[in-house]
Amino acid sequence: MMHRVAKMMDLMPVHVRRKVEPLLEVVDMLSAVQNTGVMAGFLPSFARGFVLRLGELPTTDMVSGHAAHFDWTYTSDFPEMRDLYSRAKQGQWDGEVDLDWSIGVDPRSPDVKLIPDHFICLDRAAEYGIRLNSKEKRALLHDISAWMLSQFLHGEQGALYAAAQVTESVQWMDGKLYGATQVVDEGRHVEVFHRYIDEKLEKLYIINDNLFTIIDSVVSDSRWDMKFLGMQIMVEGLALGAFGMLYKWTEEPLLKNLLRYVIRDEARHVHYGVLALKEHLTTGVSERERREREDWVFEVSLLMQNRFMMYEVYEEWFEHKMSRRQWRELVLDMPGLHEFRQVMFSRLVPNLRTIGLLTDRMLPHYDAAGLLQYMHGADATGLSGDQYLHELDADRERSMAAAE
Ligand SMILES: [Fe+2]
Ligand SMILES: [Fe+2]
Repeated sequence: MMHRVAKMMDLMPVHVRRKVEPLLEVVDMLSAVQNTGVMAGFLPSFARGFVLRLGELPTTDMVSGHAAHFDWTYTSDFPEMRDLYSRAKQGQWDGEVDLDWSIGVDPRSPDVKLIPDHFICLDRAAEYGIRLNSKEKRALLHDISAWMLSQFLHGEQGALYAAAQVTESVQWMDGKLYGATQVVDEGRHVEVFHRYIDEKLEKLYIINDNLFTIIDSVVSDSRWDMKFLGMQIMVEGLALGAFGMLYKWTEEPLLKNLLRYVIRDEARHVHYGVLALKEHLTTGVSERERREREDWVFEVSLLMQNRFMMYEVYEEWFEHKMSRRQWRELVLDMPGLHEFRQVMFSRLVPNLRTIGLLTDRMLPHYDAAGLLQYMHGADATGLSGDQYLHELDADRERSMAAAE
């Protein structure tokens, strides 16, 4: 039924399609959520993101009912977190001083590519009468880079507030001290991504609806461990994969160095999330609560798997040539995006295993979603930022050698 409606949509005039198609997609997305409890929890955020479209306004207020948890004994209570806190203090850097902003960036340069050509493949777009010359292709790659970095920036703003909330509400004193460093880290990430977009790319895209919905649901949830799961494990886990991919492939030295610094910080953040949740989910929740979290992360994984479709770029470039559905099929086919999804989930799934949410009950679901292949990778506690960067460098060298 949905498929027939979608086909009809392809034939409609653009101004009708523009209104109806996004709503149809929400219905499609909601119907894909298998767990009704998870869906009910997501509905208010879906409504704010997709129906009211609050992410398109210049400012948004999100209300959270979490409690600020005080500990007047100041007892050191989690040695591994204390250790992360020390490492975080030593790992501080200053984006103003440590990055060379005098480097000139031409986002459309054919010689120093921000993202490689293989990220997009428009061969199939010819079916819709789209043929881009090399200048247009460079302009499109510029927009795609700006879109990706804009989403990183919006995600960093979400991470900044979520980190501040978690710092208030987490019960470990050592977690609060560590959390304070994460707040500084996220502030710095907002600073450097924004500066790069503003000064070098000169184009900022609005937040993607899906990302808005996930951030809204995490920031407005009053339970600290759901904020943790949503932000430290899901969003940051996926972001670490996305940053890694871009770090691996970009030829632009300022962006590469910026990502190198950010990745080291993010690896610590995910490590912290894994430590906290592994402890909490084995000792601090009931069986019913743990099952609820198992279902929640699985549904969120699915929501994130195929949902970042660069529609804002599509609207500028191709809206008159093809429908969103046709664009989505095109994007899902692109080799660069395929690699993106692979890298992101290869970072995420091992962390879900370590915190104990990949139970026997859930494994068949992950298997059916094609996510079980990532099960045996290293989790965030076994892979430091430097090790990860080293892996990415080696990966790039291997791919370059294979291409020659
Ligand atoms: Fe960050
Ligand atoms: Fe982070």
